[in-house]
Amino acid sequence: MSERVYVETQGCQMNDYDADRLVDVLVSQAGARRVERPEEADLLLLNTCSVREKAQEKVFSQLGRWRRYKQADPGVLIGVGGCVASQEGAEILRRAPFVDLVFGPQTLHRLPQMLARRRAGADAQVDVDFPEIEKFDHLPQPRAEGATAYVSVMEGCSKYCSFCVVPYTRGDEISRPVADVLAEVRGLAEQGVREVNLLGQNVNAYAGVLDDGERADLGLLIEAVARIPGIDRIRFTTSHPAEFHSGLIDAYRDVPELADFLHLPVQSGSDLILKLMKRGHDIAAYEALIEEIRAARPGLVLATDLIVGFPGETEAEFEETLALADRVGFDGGAFSFVYSPRPGTPAAELHDGVAEADKRAWLQRLQARLHEQQSAAAQALLGTTQSVLIDGPSRRDPRELSGRTSGNRVVNFPGDPAWIGRFAEVEITEARTHSLRGRVVSVEGQGLQAAVGAGG
Ligand code: SAM
Ligand code: F3S
Repeated sequence: MSERVYVETQGCQMNDYDADRLVDVLVSQAGARRVERPEEADLLLLNTCSVREKAQEKVFSQLGRWRRYKQADPGVLIGVGGCVASQEGAEILRRAPFVDLVFGPQTLHRLPQMLARRRAGADAQVDVDFPEIEKFDHLPQPRAEGATAYVSVMEGCSKYCSFCVVPYTRGDEISRPVADVLAEVRGLAEQGVREVNLLGQNVNAYAGVLDDGERADLGLLIEAVARIPGIDRIRFTTSHPAEFHSGLIDAYRDVPELADFLHLPVQSGSDLILKLMKRGHDIAAYEALIEEIRAARPGLVLATDLIVGFPGETEAEFEETLALADRVGFDGGAFSFVYSPRPGTPAAELHDGVAEADKRAWLQRLQARLHEQQSAAAQALLGTTQSVLIDGPSRRDPRELSGRTSGNRVVNFPGDPAWIGRFAEVEITEARTHSLRGRVVSVEGQGLQAAVGAGG
């Protein structure tokens, strides 16, 4: 029977990538097709995130909601993947006995077999191993959806920051061979992809084998990806300050395809908190690194991640985070979170003396400051002309087009849908904090008059 599969994914870009891959593998090996609404599906898959408690709570409430589809039709199966599945394994079945399949981020390629066994009457299937990167050998070439694509270049994380559950749910770092990554990117380029985002939890630790047995770092990988015809913009997510090697700084200097954007999580502005977080660097090292990267790439837009309310954090330490934001300027914004204790991590053992009200107040203060910085940076773009990759209709107004600048800002503008998938030069006419408006000056492959004539 042809499975109609519905997938919902939570959390990071790696999960987004995995969710698409698990559809690919079911389409190619189990004759499935994707449906957009859960009520149309006979296989419901939830790709979960466990990085903060809130995300984890959502998993069981979502499964509870899906249970009724199964009650209405016993042929409906429910599968749980991702980090909660990895962490809880068979425990998922205890809390939600109606679940049929439990698979981890590294075993999603085995889903067709697990599904076939379950359909043939076997017990609920649980497989959350960390097999040696075999996943990618079993996944079909991804189908591109638009002009931008994620490409996972490594799995796992070996940094073991004291607050973070990822190394336990995704396993240690392991890199895909260079040739595999390049083959995937070439396949995407042939389908019209112009921008790739190279993914890993700690992607700057990339060390993929080359055909001669040597290893390539991320800088070298970026250079090789940049040489692929059709690929004109490259991003990578997420990197860690302690492993930002000189090869990567060279890439910012030498590889024009590498976007003017860097997401470099710092987590805290306090040396003491960084030490307790086991981040492996201090604030001076972070600032020196940013200076070096900005020297290699003037105009770089910087984004970060910040955590407030780490166990024992004081008001003074929190203010060091505000001060760091002021000195460095996170013009690309920051993801900021209240610390959430994760079972099994070393920080969860620490005494959490910070009052909830303080944590929330700090988060608000921090977000207000970051918002100001981002607004000021947006204002500074008024009147400039930016290179924008047009990725589709605007979300706000489907009659308009939308794209991103090299610095990762969303720009909306009037234009011809035939331009989707091309680069355009866009003059910024209005600046809001989270999106810009603009006017097309020229479109790749088209003269100025033609572009302006068609775009109005
Ligand atoms: N690899 C990235 C790095 O270099 O830090 C981070 C990946 S992590 C999945 C994404 C972000 O979630 C982190 O940067 C951190 O800010 C946040 N995070 C992770 N664990 C957290 C926790 N226990 N409480 C609150 N935020 C957390
Ligand atoms: Fe988590 Fe630190 Fe790795 S935040 S994903 S353990 S770099």
